[in-house]
Amino acid sequence: MQLAQEQIGQPAMRSPQFRANPFPFYAQLRAAAPVYQVHLSRRESIWLVTRYSDVLALLKDERFVKDRLQAMTPEQQAKQPWMPSMLKPLTRSMLTLDEPDHSRLRGLVHKAFTPRLIEELRNRVQSLCDELLDAAQRRGSMELIGDYALPLPITIIAEMLGVPTRDRAKFHQWSRALILVFSGSSQMLQGLPQIWLFMRYLRQFFKQRRVQPGDDLTTALIRAEEAGDRLSEDELLAMVMLLLIAGYETTVNLIGSGTLALLQHPAQHLLLREDPALIKTAIEELLRYTSPVDCATERFAREDVVLNGVRIARGEQVRAVLGSANRDEEQFINPDKLDLTRDPNRHLAFGQGIHYCLGAPLARLEGQIAINTLLRRMPNLRLAVAPEQLCWRRGLSLRGLEQLPVTF
Ligand code: HEM
Repeated sequence: MQLAQEQIGQPAMRSPQFRANPFPFYAQLRAAAPVYQVHLSRRESIWLVTRYSDVLALLKDERFVKDRLQAMTPEQQAKQPWMPSMLKPLTRSMLTLDEPDHSRLRGLVHKAFTPRLIEELRNRVQSLCDELLDAAQRRGSMELIGDYALPLPITIIAEMLGVPTRDRAKFHQWSRALILVFSGSSQMLQGLPQIWLFMRYLRQFFKQRRVQPGDDLTTALIRAEEAGDRLSEDELLAMVMLLLIAGYETTVNLIGSGTLALLQHPAQHLLLREDPALIKTAIEELLRYTSPVDCATERFAREDVVLNGVRIARGEQVRAVLGSANRDEEQFINPDKLDLTRDPNRHLAFGQGIHYCLGAPLARLEGQIAINTLLRRMPNLRLAVAPEQLCWRRGLSLRGLEQLPVTF
């Protein structure tokens, strides 16, 4: 039975309070209104698709596209919020484009992210985890996000791209501004100067790499750009920004929310500590249970589409709610239970279809090493504050903690 809009209501989906526990709302939607429209602002309405089977179908359906201009009627385009021209190059990344551009861009980097090449980073990831925990032990205190979950993936992706890791605090500040601006936040104008700085920084870095090539992904991409028609300058900028941001903004949430889930489930925590070989299924379960990307990025209907009996009109925006699909009772037994031995576990935390996460092997490697090292070295790990005091990040797509103070 589909419930009417007013019977379900409209939570403030971007608020930290909602982000702390969106799952009861999603369960309500799956049961009563699996394709449901919410109004985020006067100008922005989105369809939420919450059942596992519908999310899977949506992400593979070519009638839903990334390029809003291709999908929208001229009248719809005229109503689109204004976008400063400075930001236009950033709409040229693989995540914001459809075929054939998407495959052309993804093809330039996919080899660097295959499981075999990523495996070569194992020792580096391990030594970084150890260094970060050594520093925390010397200090005697730890805020797990800022001291561990964040510096690990940001350092690794910066090293892969060849950008100086000493600048990682700047990337972090800039990438937060970028996420804010592209999430349609009312604070868009505030974020623009930061993005301008980020773009200027990367353009200068490209200039330097053209004269002084390195053994890194950016140099390989610059060569592709210089070789001719495979990559434009805007696309180079969009690619490096996407890799830098996607390379850590999600993994930080896997390590942060994953650790919190373990601290809140002592029996599961103990199980993994006593049997570290469980780490592979454990990470898959933490991905499912915490869904670091809660809502996939936007897609637009290229034509009118009927999804689970609901008509989505051409040009309207649709979001696949991965966090809901990952708790769908039709797909998972006891979906709200954390079970580190769950197998099979066909979660959708990395999405599906052509935009399936490029960095999944890297995220898995980092997550597995980070969690196992933490549990081994800090067997008495505990939350340092009451769970109600934890603050979740504002936003729609990503789900993660601002901070996680712990004692060890
Ligand atoms: C736990 C960590 C991660 C999670 C949960 C995650 C999740 C996702 C999801 C759900 C998508 C698809 C979004 C959509 O269809 O709208 C995606 C795409 C992507 N991810 Fe990840 N990701 C993670 C880590 C990484 C890492 C480490 C990288 C490394 C660079 C990365 C790079 C990308 C890229 C480039 C795309 C776009 C792929 C395309 O458009 O073809 N991700 N990720």
